[in-house]
Formats: sequence, structure tokens, C-alpha cells
Amino acid sequence: MIGGGLMGSGIVEVNARAGIDVTLVEVSPEAVKAAEARVTSSLDRALGRGKLSQEDYDSTLERIRFTDDLEQLADRQLVVEAASEREDIKLDLFRRLGQILTDDQAILASNTSSIPIVKLGAVSGRADRVMGVHFFNPAPVMKLVELIPSLTSSPETLERMRGYVTDGLGKDPIEATDRAGFVVNSLLVPYLLSAIRMYEAGYASAADIDQGMVLGCGHPMGPLALSDLIGLDTVRAIGISMYDEFKEPLYSPPPLLDRMVDAGLLGKKSGHGFYPYG
Ligand code: 3HC
Repeated sequence: MIGGGLMGSGIVEVNARAGIDVTLVEVSPEAVKAAEARVTSSLDRALGRGKLSQEDYDSTLERIRFTDDLEQLADRQLVVEAASEREDIKLDLFRRLGQILTDDQAILASNTSSIPIVKLGAVSGRADRVMGVHFFNPAPVMKLVELIPSLTSSPETLERMRGYVTDGLGKDPIEATDRAGFVVNSLLVPYLLSAIRMYEAGYASAADIDQGMVLGCGHPMGPLALSDLIGLDTVRAIGISMYDEFKEPLYSPPPLLDRMVDAGLLGKKSGHGFYPYG
């Protein structure tokens, strides 16, 4: 696993709890510590709620190795990348990983929600064994995983990843083509951006917009609370990638979202977004 942020730490937890041996790579010793704290606190919560026995808690943590050295991934059969949603960072990682992995059959997968998978394959030197595997937040709870083969992924890679998601993790896959947004974000992000525009234009309060969708449509949470959960910087980045690809105005982030991200109001992870978090 590369990246121990919101998604990466959740994906590591899912794998380790499913009995899979995981190495989590972060960029610095400080980032490694933060990732370890994220994984541990989520496991503490599961232990506290009686969803995980002490024995399973201990064995789950034993299956995870934390490091800031990318070379530690050399012997892996699968690498899932969930680094920052920046194309330059991901291209550099896929270029380096293509050289580091010693197993010729190893698969390189990205949890990107918008960057073309085909580009990551092209720089890796193993384009047939590269594809997208997109988890949802919170990863330990959400059952869905999107599988995204690119133009150059082999059918065998897709089938191996399908087996990993279903038999390995016990999650439910859907398959999407390699276009910005895939299935879920293509539907979700314009909805979230529309809610932000509605709030920006003063239609209703944040609480009432959210209440409307929770009580009126049975959603588990409203669009502004969900944007806070995903991270406003992430919602904005996905909107921009989708706009770049399709030039659809509904995908373009509204000015309020730009300003909130500039101000460091990133949602739950920064302690403040459309709502404050304690
Ligand atoms: N980690 C682990 N488990 C968690 C968790 C977390 N971060 N957050 C909640 N849970 C578990 C709880 O332990 C609880 O389990 P239990 O019912 O078995 O005891 C269950 O989830 C429900 O949690 P809560 O009772 O605390 O709270 P809610 O009932 O309000 O549920 C929620 C919280 C699961 C986040 C729910 O509100 C929800 O499903 N929200 C929508 C989330 C969503 O749409 N995610 C997709 C985002 S899009 C995305 O990720 C793609 C990306 O590219 C942007």
C-alpha cells in the first residue's frame, strides 16, 4: 500500500483484517507515524465497539509493516497506490515501482478517482498488469470497489483483481471504463457541487440542505456533510479532472469551494468544513 491518508489507512485496515500481509509506505517518518496512528485508532474503535476481538486486533496489527522506504515493496504481489491525487506524483511512483517490483506477475493498482489509468500503465513498463481499483470512504464500511481496466490492462489482470476484491476482501466490485470519475463520482460529484452552489447562493442553510436529502431522499448523510467527509480538496480535485476531460460546466468547482480549500477548510480531516468537527 502506498499512502496512509484517509483512504490509504482505511484500505490497509480492510486488507489486514481480511488476513492479508500488508506493507504501508509513506513519504517521511512523520507521515509513517501519522498513518500508523490512523490505522490504530480505527482498530481501537472497532475493538471498543466489540466488533474486533483482542486476538484479531493483535493479529491484524502484526500483519501490517509501516515504512518510508519504497524499496520495501520489492517482493509484493500487489501494490495499491493511494498517494496524493496529483498526476506528477503518481506517474513518478508508477515509473519507480515498475523497476522495484521483482515478481514479474505483480499487479500495480491505483485508487485514483480521476487520473487516467492508461497513463500510469504507460510509465510503469508493465502496462498489461496495471489497473484502477477504487475504494470508497470509509473503506472499512463501504462494500463497493470500482475496477477500472485501461485500454492496455490484460483480461487476466482484471480477473485476478476481481478475485482479490471478492474472495480476498469480501467486497462487491463493479467495472467501469477508464474515464475521469468512473461510475460513482460521475454521478456523485456534480450532485455535491450543486449542493455547494445552492448553499453559496443562499437557497438554504447547510443543515437544511443536508436535512432535505437525509429525510427527503433517505440518504445516510447530506451532500455538504458528505463533502466534509470526503475532503473538500478531494471533491474539488475530482471536479477539476472531470471538467478537464468533459468540459461539462456542472463539474466545475464553484468559487466558494475554491476559497474554502485556499483557507484550509478541508472538512472533517482539518477540523472544519461546512461544519465544525471537535
Ligand atoms: N471506519 C470504520 N467504521 C466506521 C467508520 C470508519 N471511519 N465510520 C463509521 N463506521 C461504522 C461504525 O462502526 C458503524 O458500524 P456498526 O453499525 O456495525 O456499529 C457503522 O459504520 C455506522 O456508523 P455510525 O453509527 O457511527 O454512523 P452512521 O450510521 O451515521 O454511518 C457512515 C456513518 C457509514 C459514514 C454513513 O453516514 C454513510 O454511509 N455515509 C455515506 C458515505 C459515502 O457516501 N461514502 C462514499 C463517498 S465517495 C468516495 O469515497 C469516493 C471518493 O473518490 C471521493
